[in-house]
Amino acid sequence: MSDPRPIGVFDSGIGGLTVVKALRELLPNEDIFYLGDTARVPYGGKSATTVERYSLEMADMLLEENVKLVVTACNSASAVALGRLEQTLSVPVIGVIKPGAQAAVAATRSQHVGVIGTRATIKSGAYERELRALNPDINVTARACPLLVPLIEEGWLDDGLTDHVIARYLGPLTQEGVDTLVLGCTHYPLLADAIGRFLAGKAKLVDSAHTCAKAVEQLLDRHSLRASRGGAASLQVALTDAPDTFLAVARRALQLEIGEVQLREVLHRAPATAR
Ligand code: DGL
Repeated sequence: MSDPRPIGVFDSGIGGLTVVKALRELLPNEDIFYLGDTARVPYGGKSATTVERYSLEMADMLLEENVKLVVTACNSASAVALGRLEQTLSVPVIGVIKPGAQAAVAATRSQHVGVIGTRATIKSGAYERELRALNPDINVTARACPLLVPLIEEGWLDDGLTDHVIARYLGPLTQEGVDTLVLGCTHYPLLADAIGRFLAGKAKLVDSAHTCAKAVEQLLDRHSLRASRGGAASLQVALTDAPDTFLAVARRALQLEIGEVQLREVLHRAPATAR
């Protein structure tokens, strides 16, 4: 059995291309349809209700593209909307939080894990819940790092100011003795070098993009959804607003072959009461 339909991937914007990069490396035969909600990025500072609604809308749009599986390549969306997506969608859905938590539990020796992400992700407590479900004795120190996304979008990946901000956010975590740090935001793998320099071997980095790609591979196998084609598969990228400079930053940093970017209008759902 094989299934030639594309894997659908969505993110609040361009950052989820880090997951696409990992998927391309691990599953080169699979077509990918990527949808970035650039009209409404960032999700990380918005309420859970709004992020959930946006996520359902992005998933609806991916289903219109006949995808066989939905990858929620956004930590903020995975943190607050995965449950609703699992209940509602007609295809399997996967987020980035559980794979990241599994990798962190496997990596830590001191049983003290640090997690960094957007405000929405950290406020949701989703990483703590997943980590403690895997190991009830684990100690978790989580910290929102809202200034990192704009610095990355500006392309300041190797910059003194970014290093300073990293030191300010991560200093307390290293002082508390975390030995493993989860990059709980799809943008952060672009700062892996800078964060690694700051940590100087004191903590291992867990990148949710790679662990998510591995989980997608397992899910495809479990549902017999793998494509059987030989040779290179296609990558389509669609955005809800015109591409900005961050697409160029991501293209360069990730060395991804992205053809012409398509534009899609958001398919709106009625708003629910705010949480
Ligand atoms: N994609 C988001 C995440 O992984 C980061 C950008 C945003 O705040 O929307 O949390």
